[in-house]
Amino acid sequence: MVKVAVLGYGTVGSGVVEVLQKNQDAITEKLNETIEVKYILDLREFPGDPNESLVVHDYSIILEDTEVSIICETMGGVEPAYTFSKKALLTGKSVCTSNKELVAAHGPELIRIAKENHCNYMFEASVGGGIPIIRPLNSSLTPEKIEGITGILNGTTNFILTKMRDEEADFADVLKEAQEMGFAEKNPEADVEGHDAGRKIAILSSLMYGETVKYDAVSTEGITKISPIDFEYASSLGYTIKLLAMSKENNGAPFAMVAPFLINKSNPLFAVDGVFNGILVKGNMLGNTMYYGAGAGKLPTASAVVGDVIDCARHKNVSISCNWKESEKQMHSIEEVSRRFLVRFKATSETTQPQMKELFDASKVIVLEASKSEFAVITGVMTEAEYKRKAEKVLDILGMIRIEE
Ligand code: HSE
Repeated sequence: MVKVAVLGYGTVGSGVVEVLQKNQDAITEKLNETIEVKYILDLREFPGDPNESLVVHDYSIILEDTEVSIICETMGGVEPAYTFSKKALLTGKSVCTSNKELVAAHGPELIRIAKENHCNYMFEASVGGGIPIIRPLNSSLTPEKIEGITGILNGTTNFILTKMRDEEADFADVLKEAQEMGFAEKNPEADVEGHDAGRKIAILSSLMYGETVKYDAVSTEGITKISPIDFEYASSLGYTIKLLAMSKENNGAPFAMVAPFLINKSNPLFAVDGVFNGILVKGNMLGNTMYYGAGAGKLPTASAVVGDVIDCARHKNVSISCNWKESEKQMHSIEEVSRRFLVRFKATSETTQPQMKELFDASKVIVLEASKSEFAVITGVMTEAEYKRKAEKVLDILGMIRIEE
């Protein structure tokens, strides 16, 4: 019998208990051993809950119970999750987490402590919710040199962008609706400003390089400035707009970024709509593989946590390989990365189509039927720095979106 404790009985924590209890027979059959939840740690009481008797408020009860070998940390936030996880690992208890904030901030240290104490720090649920992506990077893709990872890593913003496109709606209206439907947080900043996706690509980049890619090294731009007219330009060109998180090399210089991008049908991420996530991983031998599914939500995320619990139960006193060192990977700024840009201008006597076409070495000028007061160009291929230099010379830029070819 494997006994586990769940820290935090919120959405994911209660999902973990549900998956372990509902699928207990199936899990026992596969593992040859039964997994049982012995404790649930939470500050709150849960009167009437079928698991009410498992709730404790004092973490030392769990820490000191030698029967408990695995901890599911589903509290979120850095503290006290960091201190609790560290203490568990130091006593040889494995920790399985969905907490991307903690993994991005202290992942490699916790992995090292786990190794030193012959247990495991597992974090499949921290990126892509229920989608298996950490385990493929750590095991199936080991023979590969990973050349790039590009993903839609945030369900909330993908839901908002999909609805804006399909219903020709404003960002603010769709955000409000998403909040009412429970798809967006009351404080949506981490999602809509790209910070959540930034933490996730920092984690994936660290696994890609085997060294720590700090979240601060990820250039981050959110979706708050995207408007229905951007989708009109996009659709007139056969593109859609997605918040992409990417990590790759530009002439040997690694960079990671999150920003809205125009992508067309030939990109497999084009079809990833709604709350779903999709992650494209390019290996130097294998080429592209894509991982798709529910990137958030109670049971998908809980299922990923339980997958890690089962892995820990299969590897008692054995450290499962995870190549993520504490040393920092030097990342480069995106300034020297080249691409095309879609740039929108207010049409004035100083900002004319021929002038902007020439300044931005544009291959195309687009004027929408509905709006003669503005136009857009698709620039020639240029670096971010070049684009900025040119854009500084123009007063009437209404917006810019990068194009991912
Ligand atoms: N807020 C996150 C999202 C939850 O929308 O994807 C899953 O990490």
